[in-house]
Amino acid sequence: MITVKDNIFYLTTKDTSYWFQITKYGHLEQVYYGPYLREQSIEGLRFKRTATIGSSIAYDQEDVSYCLDNLPLEWSGIGYGDYRFSPSEIKMPDQCFANDFIYVSHEIVAGHIPIEGLPHAYDDSCLEGEACLEGEAHLKGNSWLRERVLEKEEKKATACETLKILLSDEAKKVYLYLFYTVYPKVNVITRRTRIENHHKEPLVLRKFLSMMLDLPNRNFKMITFDGGWIKEANRHDRKITYGMHTNFSTTGASSNRHNPGFLMAEEQATQHKGWVYGFNLIYSGNHFGGIELSGHDLTRVVLGINPHCFEWELKKGEAFDAPEAVLTFSDKGFNGVSHHFHDFINEHIVRGDWKGRQRPVLLNNWEAHFFKFNQSKLLHLAKQGKDLGVELFVLDDGWFGERNSDTAGLGDYHVNKKKLPSGLKGFADKIREIGLEFGLWFEPEMVNEDSELFRKHPEYAIRIPGRRNTLGRNQLVLDLCNSKVQDYIIESVGRILDEAKVSYVKWDMNRHISDAFSPTLTNQGEFYHRYILGLYRVLEEIFTKRPHILLESCSSGGNRFDLGMLCYSPQVWSSDDTDPIERLRIQGGLSYLYPPSTMGAHVSSAPHQQTLRETPLSTRFNVSCFGNLGYELDLKYLTRLEKQEIKEQIAFYKKHRQLLQYGRFSRIESLKENKVLWQTVNREQTKAISGFFQTLTTASEGYDVLKVFDLKKEVMYQITTKQQNLYIKRFGGLVKHILPVELDPNGLILRTANKVHKLDDCVESYQGDGALLEAGIRLNNQFMGSHYNPETRLLGDFGSNLYVIEVVEEKEEEK
Ligand code: GLA
Repeated sequence: MITVKDNIFYLTTKDTSYWFQITKYGHLEQVYYGPYLREQSIEGLRFKRTATIGSSIAYDQEDVSYCLDNLPLEWSGIGYGDYRFSPSEIKMPDQCFANDFIYVSHEIVAGHIPIEGLPHAYDDSCLEGEACLEGEAHLKGNSWLRERVLEKEEKKATACETLKILLSDEAKKVYLYLFYTVYPKVNVITRRTRIENHHKEPLVLRKFLSMMLDLPNRNFKMITFDGGWIKEANRHDRKITYGMHTNFSTTGASSNRHNPGFLMAEEQATQHKGWVYGFNLIYSGNHFGGIELSGHDLTRVVLGINPHCFEWELKKGEAFDAPEAVLTFSDKGFNGVSHHFHDFINEHIVRGDWKGRQRPVLLNNWEAHFFKFNQSKLLHLAKQGKDLGVELFVLDDGWFGERNSDTAGLGDYHVNKKKLPSGLKGFADKIREIGLEFGLWFEPEMVNEDSELFRKHPEYAIRIPGRRNTLGRNQLVLDLCNSKVQDYIIESVGRILDEAKVSYVKWDMNRHISDAFSPTLTNQGEFYHRYILGLYRVLEEIFTKRPHILLESCSSGGNRFDLGMLCYSPQVWSSDDTDPIERLRIQGGLSYLYPPSTMGAHVSSAPHQQTLRETPLSTRFNVSCFGNLGYELDLKYLTRLEKQEIKEQIAFYKKHRQLLQYGRFSRIESLKENKVLWQTVNREQTKAISGFFQTLTTASEGYDVLKVFDLKKEVMYQITTKQQNLYIKRFGGLVKHILPVELDPNGLILRTANKVHKLDDCVESYQGDGALLEAGIRLNNQFMGSHYNPETRLLGDFGSNLYVIEVVEEKEEEK
């Protein structure tokens, strides 16, 4: 809800208030952003200015206490005394950098306002017309009509609204718009900016961010999600001290180095308690986020396109729109903020046919084959997958051109007939005959020098004339600033999708941008942003026309895991690293900003291809099931028992898929560093699944506790461990201690026994109400070498269990 009274803007969501006011000089002064407050609190909250501060600049001699440097602002200019980090750097039409944007007017409109050329959040709670409702009511009766009317009222109350404020630098006829869209139900406010030049002389943007916000410091720390290839989104905390703390990317993509999303939290905030602010950007290119603590204890938060190598000229009548930033706040700790982000993304970012829809269990052939496959290998793999319950087969890299390694073929789209003699359509039909959907990998933004496309159109690749170019994974980036290149991709990919009736696409992008230059641009300062605009056009053209296709975006894993891509692709391949222990950090880190429904998570082989870590099959599943489950390994090398276990895993996943993909996901604070606890609860609070993961074990582990939050305190629940296999080989030479006869641990008998005989891992069963579950159930002891029995939890290094929690009464009713 947005209201305006006495020059104060009150933006209200379900649990938060965001207020700012127009000052007597026309600047926008931030008053409050935090837990919901009644409007009467405004006086107490106003920043008092009763003294002047030495060595500061008075905006006006009439009121020397009015210094922009000490004001908490919603936007700030340059040249009038605010020396903090500026959200813009504009060479104004007079060639100077000074600018001072002053309030002119505002309007409040229902819904969101689209941004041309850029993805943005949306609200599809558009209301059906009365007439149409009444017409249908004839057929469906009055109670149906009553329900619809109630629904409609609820929607009206929760639908988003936008506040559009016009500011102007009158001296130079430049207009600045600040947009605020309030999504009340999910506690999110989005912000963005637009600048218009109405002066006869051009202006040049050297920095133009999407938002700026000044808040009083509360001993904040900045939490960022950083890493690199195969180690994306690891959480890092930095105390905010005086000066600037940044989080940015210069790779041309949102990057695996620093995800654009970041948090600002009270130092003592935990997963469930404390003030936390969350920020993210609906953008896939170079981003820049920062928090600056000023000498007067105001924290300035900024976010937008990275000014690095950015320059944009606006002639008279031209405008520039910055991408939309997403803001949220919770006083319920990190999970509070994550829940807001999760709901926002599921409701207002992901769109089209796959919004809110259960995602298929897929089998991807990449880690099974890399480039070495042929039709019969693929069909054999697919058939085995089908037997285990897989629903979608994904043919990864290597199906086109001369793509037998990563040195050739990118840019070409004709199928490699040596590998797929029946052609792509013929092969896809065979997959469908097996009973699976068909998905296909593409890397459309790239070209190898050894490709037909490059030989024909070397000018399509990004290179700087007169300089030697640089390769990444042996490939060049295509010039997506060039509309001819965009059209080539749109046509080539679209044709294949239609011909082979592809129902899932993995859209990859496997290198950072270097040698940034496009002959289509006169100003190379536009390059990085134009590239991303080109990419968005390509995605829009290909996929909005084919809404049935499930798009999974990928960039060497999670190198482009951002809200911009999520507007087109409902899910993202989280990381090339499928080691479950690494995934605890990667998926765990991503979960602060993105819901499980957006994360591709696959079970692969052990020892793991990148870490050489040997992990139980159960743990590989237990981690992957908190995302969109897939398998990515050569099934033919699995034992009968392992196949059986996978079959059970998939059946379990399908049974609980709604909960695992769309439940309320939380991270549970663990007292020990070697334990990770995750949980997901359904909306009705009747069902939950908890994951208890142990990284490196310690000898004689103490009592473990399973805490489950967000259930109904007074309702009784049944808690049962998901059954999983315990393989004999786990015990190695120790087996002789529990067998009547002594056997060689490396001998044929035990090796064969491991294939056909398993032990059941410990299954615990408890009952307790939601209050007890929150206090924590004390679990059975862990194995510590004294003896083995089926009541002892055998986790060791990298062990884990899933616990299924269901309402007791409901179960009885079902009977
Ligand atoms: C990238 C992806 C992988 C796989 C390979 C194929 O690394 O992240 O999943 O598709 O490319 O070359």
